[in-house]
Amino acid sequence: MKRISLTQYLVEEQRMNNSIPAELRLLIEVVARACKTISHAVSKGALGEVLGSAGSENVQGEVQKKLDVLSNEMLLEANEWGGHLAAMASEEMETIHPIPHRYPKGEYLLLFDPLDGSSNIDVNVSIGTIFSVLKAPEGMSTPSEQDFLQCGTKQVAAGYAVYGPQTVLVLTTGNGVNCFTLDREMGSWVLTQRDMKIPAETKEYAINASNARHWYPPVKRYVDELLAGKTGPRGKDFNTRWIASMVADVHRILNRGGIFMYPADAREPDKPGKLRLMYEANPMAFIVEQAGGAATNGKQRILDIQPQKLHERVAVFLGSRSEVERVTSYHNA
Ligand code: AHG
Ligand code: MN
Ligand code: MN
Repeated sequence: MKRISLTQYLVEEQRMNNSIPAELRLLIEVVARACKTISHAVSKGALGEVLGSAGSENVQGEVQKKLDVLSNEMLLEANEWGGHLAAMASEEMETIHPIPHRYPKGEYLLLFDPLDGSSNIDVNVSIGTIFSVLKAPEGMSTPSEQDFLQCGTKQVAAGYAVYGPQTVLVLTTGNGVNCFTLDREMGSWVLTQRDMKIPAETKEYAINASNARHWYPPVKRYVDELLAGKTGPRGKDFNTRWIASMVADVHRILNRGGIFMYPADAREPDKPGKLRLMYEANPMAFIVEQAGGAATNGKQRILDIQPQKLHERVAVFLGSRSEVERVTSYHNA
């Protein structure tokens, strides 16, 4: 079988389909290179002294793990000097990181969740990186947080890496979804799945059911109907899967179908959910839609939400289209 590397895939996309400019292609390659470095650190585990807490908190009040901090630094360092970016933003940084003056600046903005699934780091369960690329607004001179507050529909690329039994990179530039597997010996990403499509039919759902007592009625109704199985309104049995790493749950859904839910609930009524819109929900929603699925916050399409702030949270329902439409219709009933 002829092996197609990420570089070759991107060059061909640029040439034949004209779907990505050269600058964006190079930017994606740099992000992929940083993910390779993170994957290497992850796989060392205790031997690399990368496990455990960093002894600090991020802007959202979450305890940072060593790998959260390390992955953030790796992404910053890799992307600072390439000349393709104007600024970056991350789950682990309070505000944006403009490209330092000593480096040339480009026209793109990069957002990332450097390490997704932090609670799984120390127990050797799949974790990952999520990223989203936007274009800087026309005429921007000094980048500000405001420049990042663009709808998900404005993303020009999005992707995630999963550091699991294999390290994979799933990518969209708005022309379908492709998956690359890291060949560790060669140090290169090899195209292993072309034009991924989420199966329409599913018997699997992902939600943290320990929060069930806090759920609002539409989510409770939807999950109750799944739990009722064959003799209930859905007429079939469903299975639960919850990895607690969004990257891994979404990757399963992309391959096997299903629905992923992290709803808002009554614990903290003012909080619109746990996950972050700009570097978790938006890139995943872009990928899922490109793979034929759907993504909403229960009421509306995630990609249409106008962000109000960088670390904004959002309820997330994504995956197989008919399931997402059903749970969304319960919210809008
Ligand atoms: P992060 O590690 O970047 O903070 O994200 C964790 C997220 C997401 O990956 C996962 O689906 C969810 O939090 C898990 O939440 P629970 O702890 O409620 O299971
Ligand atoms: Mn995350
Ligand atoms: Mn994270």
